[in-house]
Amino acid sequence: MKTIIISNRLPVKIIEENNEYKYIPSEGGLATGLGDIYKNGNSIWIGWPGLEIPEDRQLEVANKLAELHLYPVFLTQEEINLFYEGFSNEVLWPVFHYVVTYAKYEQSYWDSYKAVNEKFANNTIKFIEQGDQIWVQDYQLLLVPHLIRAYKQDAIIGFFQHIPFPSYEIFRLIPWRNELLTGLTGADLIGFHTYDDVRHFLHTTARLLPITASANILTCNERQIVVEAFPMGIDFDKFSSLPKQPAVFKEIERLNNVPDKATHVLSIDRLDYSKGILERLQAYSLLLENNPEYVGKIVWTMVVVPSRDTVPQYRDLKEQIDRTVGDINSRHRTATWNPINYFYRSFPIEELSIFYATADICLVTPMRDGMNLVSKEYVASRNNDDGVLILSEMAGSSKELTDALIVNPNNLGDIMNAIEHAMQMPQEEQRERMIAMRAVVKKFSVKRWVDNFMLKLAEVKQLQDSLKTK
Ligand code: G6P
Repeated sequence: MKTIIISNRLPVKIIEENNEYKYIPSEGGLATGLGDIYKNGNSIWIGWPGLEIPEDRQLEVANKLAELHLYPVFLTQEEINLFYEGFSNEVLWPVFHYVVTYAKYEQSYWDSYKAVNEKFANNTIKFIEQGDQIWVQDYQLLLVPHLIRAYKQDAIIGFFQHIPFPSYEIFRLIPWRNELLTGLTGADLIGFHTYDDVRHFLHTTARLLPITASANILTCNERQIVVEAFPMGIDFDKFSSLPKQPAVFKEIERLNNVPDKATHVLSIDRLDYSKGILERLQAYSLLLENNPEYVGKIVWTMVVVPSRDTVPQYRDLKEQIDRTVGDINSRHRTATWNPINYFYRSFPIEELSIFYATADICLVTPMRDGMNLVSKEYVASRNNDDGVLILSEMAGSSKELTDALIVNPNNLGDIMNAIEHAMQMPQEEQRERMIAMRAVVKKFSVKRWVDNFMLKLAEVKQLQDSLKTK
């Protein structure tokens, strides 16, 4: 018996350099969260390797990935444009993050979404053996549970969505809303990060489909589907032990012992309009304008990890961020000080650990976020129990990290005040808050998340089987 994970993106992505393929870790919560854990169990992972691979090189790539128990679904450039950039990231992503004005309801996007979901399902079917647990991940593959069920009536299928599920009034805007929900009803267990997502999903499904919802159970053609919240965690021990590695430790010590060290603020996000990067920049700019005494006293390390930069809204956002950072730095900088150290690239985990361990304040202010693992990674990295997390109430993690300074990301004054509050917070209060948050992040690790989901899936299947034999 094995677990088959299916996601649009594999935890490893391929980039091409001088006609050579390089295999590097993928970005985003799904890949970083599940990327290590799947190796520990008896699992295989099916997904897209991140770029178009010409037919004559597909065997080479498949062989290389098979060594890691990864099985590629190859997408053509047209599928990448219409299914991935189009339907997934110009329809579902903006609508599910409540930015409905960004949605482009193109028929060709939808046609491709259906075709590619079939491709993923067909690629999976050949691997399924009796008793296997199939775990479909995220919004790019909403139709896959139903497609697999059509081939294998008794398959054990779980689905987890890593991004928010919007309220009925938002979801109903999508022209293909019923088909999307029907796709999910192929699953036995449907998971979201928060109880609010569960509530929105149950309500939406009961209103749009001929299905009854009672408590957290949907009944569909006499099959029962359980819907539950499973807040995803991180590998606490990994993030907590990284700062103790000798080279990492040495660098942290060096940076922390600079004389007259300025307050270090950190943010790390994928390039995305849902992350509230521009709004955060505005708040910081106001803070500097209103407090000339902060000149030289505060430095913001702002890491933006490149993502989806072929989608127009992401390209525009990148330009706006570049311009705004340039504007703030040129207005406020001195000969020896820059208010923002801006990086547009990804970093190896050891360097991220140095950022986390040396940041006095971590700013996580998304407009909307399914969970947000950066907030948890910061907490896990703070082995001295100090540092302040400023966290948007729109991030799923704000439901667990209640000892953060919680802000409304649309309220620039709120963000400004939180930064000032954090700068002045006594060590003792920092410790109390950090100790409480670290206990939560340690306890609800990603391992526990996987175990809980899988246990529940087995339980749901047993329940269904017992109902059948009655
Ligand atoms: C989010 C989504 C993932 C996605 C990741 C990176 O975390 O939930 O499904 O893989 O962003 O985005 P990308 O489009 O590069 O896969």
